[in-house]
Amino acid sequence: MSDSPISHHPGGGLPRADSQGTPEETSASPEQKAQMEQAYAQMRRKMRMTQLDEEIKHKVMVLSGKGGVGKSTVSVGLALSLARQGKKVGIMDIDITGPNVPKMLGIEDAELHVEDGQIFPAIGPHGLKVISMAFLIEDPDKPVIWRGPIKLGAIQQFIGDVAWGELDALIIDFPPGTSDEPLTVSQSLPGIDGVVIVTTPQDVALLDSRKSINFAKTISLPCLGVVENMSGYTLHGKAEPNSQISVMGPTGTAIESTTDENGDWSVTLDVFKSGGGEAAAVELEVPFLGALPFDPGIVRGGDDGVHRIIAEPDGATAAAFDAVVNNVLVELEGSSGPTVRIS
Ligand SMILES: Nc1ncnc2c1ncn2[C@@H]1O[C@H](COP(=O)(O)OP(=O)(O)OP(=O)(O)O)[C@@H](O)[C@H]1O
Ligand SMILES: [Mg+2]
Repeated sequence: MSDSPISHHPGGGLPRADSQGTPEETSASPEQKAQMEQAYAQMRRKMRMTQLDEEIKHKVMVLSGKGGVGKSTVSVGLALSLARQGKKVGIMDIDITGPNVPKMLGIEDAELHVEDGQIFPAIGPHGLKVISMAFLIEDPDKPVIWRGPIKLGAIQQFIGDVAWGELDALIIDFPPGTSDEPLTVSQSLPGIDGVVIVTTPQDVALLDSRKSINFAKTISLPCLGVVENMSGYTLHGKAEPNSQISVMGPTGTAIESTTDENGDWSVTLDVFKSGGGEAAAVELEVPFLGALPFDPGIVRGGDDGVHRIIAEPDGATAAAFDAVVNNVLVELEGSSGPTVRIS
């Protein structure tokens, strides 16, 4: 059968990648070949993105107008709170210059498994799937200096190449501000549900939150709501049952309280004022998702790699995270879609 006209005829079937091809095909210049390869890679990535959209039920971006307000702490907290409800959750840390999500989860030494060009996430507490730029950085003490296009290309690749599997929710943590990163992610990953904005309680929160909300508007994503982090700090103590106690507040005025029949008392100090986040949400007409207390245990947990939700699952901070998560779920699932869509 070797002289069959079909097997000898170059036009007898679709040319395969490994076939000899016609003289025109074999003479494709290296430049043309590179272009074809690039187009193919792009097509594959697009298909992966569509698949990601189908596999991941909810995708939430966590943003803030300025740095250090607790975005990463809140992202990790939301992810853990959802995961301990039994949901399948992933967290993606997009902060290239200061990726600290793995450290907060105590898995900074984890190594990513790569198979068939796909990156498999590291696994954190409660089965949380974690992807972070930190896993790619060899020396954590060396600053990462990537020029814009390289950084954004790396993010796109990062999104397209991760094998998340089926997820109920993916939480995406960003560097501070309204920089290129959220823009790139919003353009690359289809079906993002919206943005959660983290702020602190001061009056300036309004200004910062307004910026973030306007940013969400620019990238055509709904604002799911505002979370006020580092809200009041609650002191607890014991004294004579049913007696009066007085605690000196941060502004120098005494705060009075009474003990219960067991002698327990608690007083909440507004270290950074309070209510700025809620006021911002009301004024900017977006949902207020709740307040998280100022908790020194969060700082310790960030350093030790044991998040407050893991260290004290029945504590006040864990409960506050659960309340915020419930409100986020209402925005995601409570109606036919998020209640606020800014266009
Ligand atoms: N509710 C809280 N109570 C006490 N400390 C907190 C709280 N939330 C965050 N922190 C502390 O504040 C610091 C900044 O938090 P975090 O890294 O989460 O902020 P960020 O907004 O992600 O910062 P960046 O903008 O650099 O990414 C950390 O030391 C963290 O432990
Ligand atoms: Mg951060």
